[in-house]
Amino acid sequence: EAGDHESFMHKEMLEQPAAAARALSGRLDERFGTAHLGGLNMDARETRAIRRVKILGCGSAYYVGQMGAALVEELARIPADAEAASEFRYRDPVIEADTLYVAVSQSGETIDTLLAVQEIRRKGGRVVGLVNVVGSAIARECDGGIYLHAGPEVAVASTKALTNMFLGFALLALQLGRVRDLSIADGRRLINGLTRIPAQIQEILDDEAAIAAVAEQLSEAESVFFVGRVRGFPVAREGAQKFKEISYRHAEAYQTSELKHGPLALISPAVPTVAIVPDDELTDRNVGALHEIAARRGPLVVITHEGVDLGEVDCVRIDVPRNERELDPVLLVVPLQLLAFHAAQRLGHDIDKPRNLAKSVTVE
Ligand code: BG6
Repeated sequence: EAGDHESFMHKEMLEQPAAAARALSGRLDERFGTAHLGGLNMDARETRAIRRVKILGCGSAYYVGQMGAALVEELARIPADAEAASEFRYRDPVIEADTLYVAVSQSGETIDTLLAVQEIRRKGGRVVGLVNVVGSAIARECDGGIYLHAGPEVAVASTKALTNMFLGFALLALQLGRVRDLSIADGRRLINGLTRIPAQIQEILDDEAAIAAVAEQLSEAESVFFVGRVRGFPVAREGAQKFKEISYRHAEAYQTSELKHGPLALISPAVPTVAIVPDDELTDRNVGALHEIAARRGPLVVITHEGVDLGEVDCVRIDVPRNERELDPVLLVVPLQLLAFHAAQRLGHDIDKPRNLAKSVTVE
């Protein structure tokens, strides 16, 4: 039962602060500035021997996998990337003994992800799972794992599980980093950032009414662009995914830097853009792109941090709280959940069970 909430998605979005706290509980080690993930079943020597990280998932789990790959590269300096599990198996992948494979799945039952895990293990690769449902098929097939502790997620559009997947990756990257060159000071800096996240998610949720008003405007558009760069790009992909899944409006994610190589041709007063512009190394370039969009009279919604100077650009601005830059994606994504939810609600759709979609796809 969704209880007092009009939908499970709404209930699950609001559960995120508590769910995030559970994902971190008992796993942070202040003293050594690291994470404890006993379920990985790997000692320090094995952890150090990892030369590459390959992340596999479907849908939102794939996009959060891209966020996770960035965390692993930034914190542990291990080459990492994410791939759609549904494609991986069909290109006869090269499986390496010194690669750590990570399977990401809320349900633990998604067939494409499960078959990818089986293919890797058949070839002798090591797979760990980032899984929510305890004892699920993927959890059972893996060599070890990190349970997400998000609690049951019913709505097709993933919210609290996705948040906890990101935190799972942050813990994994911290542990991988601390057996390598990540300093104890940096480890503690990230632990401090992680512990602030539950309350910061709550702050964004408290802004729901303002974000709902923006969503009403977006729900009128036939097509919406979601753009971001580097850490912001998988956030944009997840934002577009949520928006199309439940509002049934066309939504497309692009790297902000690629706009001028094609999609700028589509920008007009009828095509709004949701831009992810965190306070980071790329802020100035991102702001430049906002001006390009505004010059074509494209309506703009900008997800940013307080104090970021967007120039004179005409836009609706949504500020999220600041954290450590590496952890920004988990906060930037929350307003995008609310935008999709309120657009879909405005349009009168079945939010928990969007047409043509299933919560977990167990046949190929
Ligand atoms: C899709 C769902 O079919 O499966 C997505 O519609 C979900 O919302 C994806 O992200 C992966 O599911 P899971 O359970 O493997 O995380």
